[in-house]
Amino acid sequence: MTDLDPTTHHDSTRPSTTEAGAPRQSDAHSLSIGADGPLLLHDVALVEKLARFDRERIPERSPHAKGSGAFGELEITEDVSQYTSAKVFQPGIKTPMLARFSTVAGELGSPDTWRDVRGFALRFYTQDGNFDIVGNNTPTFFVRDPMKFPDFIHSQKRLPDSGLRDNNMQWDFWTLSPESAHQVSYLMGDRGLPKTWRNMNGYSSHTYQWINEAGERFWVKYHFLTEQGVENLGNDQADLLAGKDGDFHRRDLFDAIKAGDFPSWRVEVQIMPYDDAKTYRFNPFDLTKTWPKADYPRIPVGRFTLNQNPVNHFAQIEQAAFSPSNTVPGTGLSPDKMLLGRVFSYPDAQRNRLGTNFNQLPVNRPIVPTNSYDKEGAMQFFHSGDSPVYAPNSYGRAYQDEQGPVDNGWEADGEMVRAAYSLHAEDDDFGQAHTLVRDVYSDEQRARLVETVVGSLLGGVREPVLSRVFEYWRQIDQEVGDSIEATYRAKAV
Ligand code: HEM
Repeated sequence: MTDLDPTTHHDSTRPSTTEAGAPRQSDAHSLSIGADGPLLLHDVALVEKLARFDRERIPERSPHAKGSGAFGELEITEDVSQYTSAKVFQPGIKTPMLARFSTVAGELGSPDTWRDVRGFALRFYTQDGNFDIVGNNTPTFFVRDPMKFPDFIHSQKRLPDSGLRDNNMQWDFWTLSPESAHQVSYLMGDRGLPKTWRNMNGYSSHTYQWINEAGERFWVKYHFLTEQGVENLGNDQADLLAGKDGDFHRRDLFDAIKAGDFPSWRVEVQIMPYDDAKTYRFNPFDLTKTWPKADYPRIPVGRFTLNQNPVNHFAQIEQAAFSPSNTVPGTGLSPDKMLLGRVFSYPDAQRNRLGTNFNQLPVNRPIVPTNSYDKEGAMQFFHSGDSPVYAPNSYGRAYQDEQGPVDNGWEADGEMVRAAYSLHAEDDDFGQAHTLVRDVYSDEQRARLVETVVGSLLGGVREPVLSRVFEYWRQIDQEVGDSIEATYRAKAV
């Protein structure tokens, strides 16, 4: 996973070379006619240096551009083999891994401490290929249909004319998408500003699938619980840090690992028997909802520890290509529409961001051999020699042809529709948001939520969005909605 080029790493004995390996005459001075004379096009060293510099930047991730991460190890301490046959989850198994934490809306150089959801992307280099869980530090999300995702991200980024971020645009989208209420209640609460990445939990958010040795299927949600304890920043602290040290979270993680203070997270899951999903009181594949612990308690699985910093941020973090499409045997997807949209979007984005052969980059390459008939394209690095390039073939290269029901599928039937809800009794937008704000948050936390929302509204939110924001919060919780309006009116004059 580190894949250093030994010829260029701290080698004081070998002179610098051109990219083609010939000795360079100079790293400092260009070739000119006379000391003050014009430069020469055949100064290969200069031309190569400038041309490569001109091409150093690659597109940043469309969302989640700013982030960093570290390598580590997942260890399974419990026996969950009754639920999954995945090798990575068998008792005692240790698996090398990579984690990347990020903000969502900010660009590559944006401050780490702007209020935002945090990405929590995990890659496990398993004996069955790469297994990725690309989650967040919140167990829910703003929308439940992938059709809305690009609009959501547009509304959080920048205005088309001024290129400025805009609170009015954010609240306009949220209040016209009431399914956002639960996640917005998280974001405006204390957890919208984690103190460090080490001090936050992670969640798969989505429901995934597990399959055991006997072929029984289960629905599963992953929880990654910080062993450093959950800690958050106040608005003022976060603003101060955004000015003083935009890389505060990146620095904190790197420094902690460098000092040998390795952060760790407990891995737990909620398991729902396959058939429960059909009759559960709300759609268990709705990403705007959590499963109450009273219905599906958390089951311990193991823990992961981050113990190795990247030695090259660009090669190992910027070029990392996580994707929910990376599942392994014993695991699978679910009917969550967002998840199904995501499995297309990530590799597609990565083909654009990193190139067709992004899976051949060291950080993305599985630790097990691959045997794929996909071939060629820009920057192909590995190849299959002279073996057959088509399947089926008569010349000894293996190919698969499994037929019949897949072991990690589910039944689907019905008319083709475009629908906001499925048909579960308690499918709604505001119920769990209300529980979070009223039953989970303390009085002090609710007061801070009101202060944060009002602060955001005072940052340029105008009619007709403003009135809709008050109504949106009243739907979440009457008292909180009233308080937001009253506090806003008192401060706005
Ligand atoms: C990054 C699309 C929903 C978590 C990305 C990227 C895309 C994307 C295109 C950049 C990938 C890259 O260039 O490597 C989408 C779409 C979604 C969606 C289309 C909905 C349909 C979500 C949800 C979560 C999430 C629900 C969390 C549960 C992340 C994370 C990253 C990311 C953590 C950064 C991964 C990294 O560290 O490299 N998303 N996303 N996304 N997304 Fe999503």
